[in-house]
Amino acid sequence: MATGDAAGSGKQASEEAWWHDAVIYQVYLRSFADSDGDGVGDIPGLSSRLDNLTRLGVDGIWLSPCHPSPDLDHGYDVVDYTDIDARYGGMPAFQEFLDQAHARGLKVLMDIVPNHCSAAHPWFLKALAAPPGSPERERFIFRDGRGPDRSLPPNNWPGGFGGSAWTRVDDGQWYLHTFDPGQPDFNWRNPKVADHFDHVLRRWFDRGIDGFRIDVAHLLLKHPDLPDWPDLTMYNAHQQNQPGIHDVYRRWRRIADSYDRELTYVGEVWVPTVSDLAKYVQPDELHQAFYFDLLYSPWDAAAFREAVDRGLDGIASAGTIVSWTLGNHDVHRVVTRYGRVGPDTGAGGSPARSRGAVDVRLGEQRARAALLFLLALPGSIYLYQGEELGLPEVQDLPDHARQDPIWSRSGHTEHGRDGCRVPLPWRKTGSSFGFGAGGSWLPQPDWFGDYAVEQQWLDVDSTLWLYARALSNRRALRDRLAGEALEWMAVPDRPDVLVYRRGGVICVTTFGDAALDLPAGWGRVICSSAPVVDGRLPGAAAAWLLIG
Ligand code: NOJ
Repeated sequence: MATGDAAGSGKQASEEAWWHDAVIYQVYLRSFADSDGDGVGDIPGLSSRLDNLTRLGVDGIWLSPCHPSPDLDHGYDVVDYTDIDARYGGMPAFQEFLDQAHARGLKVLMDIVPNHCSAAHPWFLKALAAPPGSPERERFIFRDGRGPDRSLPPNNWPGGFGGSAWTRVDDGQWYLHTFDPGQPDFNWRNPKVADHFDHVLRRWFDRGIDGFRIDVAHLLLKHPDLPDWPDLTMYNAHQQNQPGIHDVYRRWRRIADSYDRELTYVGEVWVPTVSDLAKYVQPDELHQAFYFDLLYSPWDAAAFREAVDRGLDGIASAGTIVSWTLGNHDVHRVVTRYGRVGPDTGAGGSPARSRGAVDVRLGEQRARAALLFLLALPGSIYLYQGEELGLPEVQDLPDHARQDPIWSRSGHTEHGRDGCRVPLPWRKTGSSFGFGAGGSWLPQPDWFGDYAVEQQWLDVDSTLWLYARALSNRRALRDRLAGEALEWMAVPDRPDVLVYRRGGVICVTTFGDAALDLPAGWGRVICSSAPVVDGRLPGAAAAWLLIG
């Protein structure tokens, strides 16, 4: 509950703040578990599977947006920020879920979408009905077009999903939407917008949640003159990461700090350099920001080491922790990325959604190794649902089933993100492999049952068991690892191997095909992604060893 005045300086996060080393599991709700057979995952479905998450051993959940929404971008187009969509079970189901998660010791982060809402949001409907220059339009970014009859967009900015970032309305004005036309951008220079979001934050904190993941946190403010950007192949610095953005997060931090429990914000922040990123996680701004460099690194020892060093050096300078991740609902699944053996055909529209031939088995081995590499790092960890099953990307969805706006906005040239959002398999057989009683909103391939949760719990060598063992080790070693820095250890003549030490734990990863004989002095193997026989770690594998 709220205590005292929200104004004042940022409360310093304690060294022991729960989120400093938490492992948070991202639930993409519509694909997690369906309780009512409508083919779409929902909150009662999630609640019914919480024991599986505690068995897995995560510390908390990041719940993808579940507010009322026409779902043009699956919840990232919000109609009412203070309610829960009835299709997901409404507010009673949410409160029940929150209580049940807390009863199991799980933290709950919601996903807040402050850059834009849905074109069906009451504010936007009012803006459309009101004349140019009206206060209703001032909550969004409406402008006259260019050219003699104003029929050209106000500037040259492209939309994030393809096409222009501007759409023209009936009276001839244009509105800005950084993503789909169904997602109009708010005007964050209007104090009414900021006030509204203060209210939204408090609303959910008062209900008892533990924090927010902030959608495209760097985008809220645009250059006041909305000028053209000269080179659209480069990061458009007029459209994002504007200096005033930091005032927004100082204000949000004061709100979080006014509660007498430890809350956290984790920003999805896309900025050119890690020093730009560090500015978002100053002690009086966000607690965390995703560090994506490791996600974007190829499976390569030098690239991984560089990404880790850059993250630790850059973020530590801001006095907070790095928030690591290898996957989310916007990129291809990690098994597929690491198993890519053919050239990128480019049709994915992003290096993390490359397309081409995949060796799934190799990808699996590497992804298992990457997990151990990740989990011994200092900082918080974000996992994406299904990676604990070793699920590969579903690359061959039928075109008619694709729903990601990237598919339509790119003129059906980029497949987009549906392949990592296919509903989870819970059982080897049966209706939608145990996801629900009535099919699934994206078709699951026949092979999905081989990755089913139930099946994997029966096999101690499964990827699910590896995740559970690794998470339980990380938990057991928590005190030993807390506050301990990472120190690289040299392995002569093996540039394909990375070894680091933290608090008496050694993490060793072989990136190439060749095995490594583990020196006796490195200690006892407590966890490995592949069997270690006679002290030999195979290629494309990782192990943790306990010194002494
Ligand atoms: C980032 C989210 O992760 C993505 O899924 C969404 O499409 C965009 N922001 C727009 O909200």
